[in-house]
Amino acid sequence: MNTSLLQRVSSIAALACLAACASISAAPAAKDIPATQKQYRLVRDGGGHGYKLELTDAPVRMPGDHEVLIRVRATSLNRRDVFVMKGQYPVGSRDSLVPLSDGAGEIVAIGHGVTRFRLGDRVAGIFFQNWLSGRPPEKVASAALGGSLDGMLTQYATLNEQGVVHLPKSLSFEEGATLPCVGVTAWNGLFTRGRIQPGDYVLLEGTGGVSTFGLQLALAAGAKPIITSSSDAKLERAKALGAFGTVNYKSTPDWEKPVLALTGGVGVHEVLEVGGKDTLPHALASIAPGGDIALIGGLGGFGGNIPALQLLDRNIDISGIYVGSRENFEALNAFIDQHGVKPVIDKVFEFKDAPAAYELMESDQFLGKIVIRL
Ligand SMILES: NC(=O)c1ccc[n+]([C@@H]2O[C@H](COP(=O)([O-])OP(=O)(O)OC[C@H]3O[C@@H](n4cnc5c(N)ncnc54)[C@H](OP(=O)(O)O)[C@@H]3O)[C@@H](O)[C@H]2O)c1
Repeated sequence: MNTSLLQRVSSIAALACLAACASISAAPAAKDIPATQKQYRLVRDGGGHGYKLELTDAPVRMPGDHEVLIRVRATSLNRRDVFVMKGQYPVGSRDSLVPLSDGAGEIVAIGHGVTRFRLGDRVAGIFFQNWLSGRPPEKVASAALGGSLDGMLTQYATLNEQGVVHLPKSLSFEEGATLPCVGVTAWNGLFTRGRIQPGDYVLLEGTGGVSTFGLQLALAAGAKPIITSSSDAKLERAKALGAFGTVNYKSTPDWEKPVLALTGGVGVHEVLEVGGKDTLPHALASIAPGGDIALIGGLGGFGGNIPALQLLDRNIDISGIYVGSRENFEALNAFIDQHGVKPVIDKVFEFKDAPAAYELMESDQFLGKIVIRL
């Protein structure tokens, strides 16, 4: 190699090193991490079963072996978070907890032995910290973030590296924060436990988090989503997002009729069942032979008759879905990057306005997801 070529090679190497060093130093060193942070906690509300939301100062716990410290940049709310606040969701006998299962951010410190992540990686926590792949472990709910374990409405979260995934490259922190609960649930309902195919009719109930995710995933899969709502204005928004058909379930109480008409009488092949006892009979009346029903929620309360003979006769699969595993989350993320899926965010709140985010969730005056930026 002649001298000028050597000089060029070494200056390219120096530039590459500079770029690498710059990207490494972009993540704060451990010394930049404060000793304390702002953190919301749900604290027992008097003698009742519920909790009230309080902004507190809390220590930042540096990561131990196999743990990572995440600077949380965005979180999102789920209906479950309202149930937790009201004391209507099992969280063990906890007097106080950090709420919200869903959060995304960047890794700012790593403990000894961490192999899955590096400083600066953009990540999200998984809903069940103990469910990595395959079937759920016994007592899976005992490791749910924002429930039995402290959640993500905090500036810094320390998690085991096994309970964390890389964010899809195509999503912002705000978008990534919408995935851990409803994203993974809709994914499993349609793709893992359901058998969605291009051209299928897919039924989505209401325009909340699970259903709006289901709408987008179904569209990306080449299916035809039909979505219901109590609001014509929300149905207009759903149409703009690409819904094949829309039905107002308030003004049309026997809404399975227009749903069936939209399918030309065939019926729907996939259902994300979130309404519970209010919607299950209608979903059963809308299903096509060989269809799948994902039992997900109970917005109108749980219950309802499962007609065994009808299910058998029509080869219907009914699956109970409880979010999913890390493996499911990673499959969702790959699909999102591959198909350019963008979660629908209704409103982003600042950290100081977290109580207002809860109020919006309770009002039902939103479509898709509610996000809190930190
Ligand atoms: N099993 C699981 O792993 C899992 C995971 C996530 C969620 N969930 C459950 O699934 C349900 C939905 O969760 P989410 O986070 O998507 O809720 P969400 O975002 O709060 O959805 C609320 C929307 O659902 C619609 N809705 C309310 N009551 C309804 C009813 N009786 N029938 C039909 N639609 C109704 C309304 O839409 P319109 O205003 O358009 O009418 C409302 O705005 C909840 O019960 C939640 O606990 C379960």
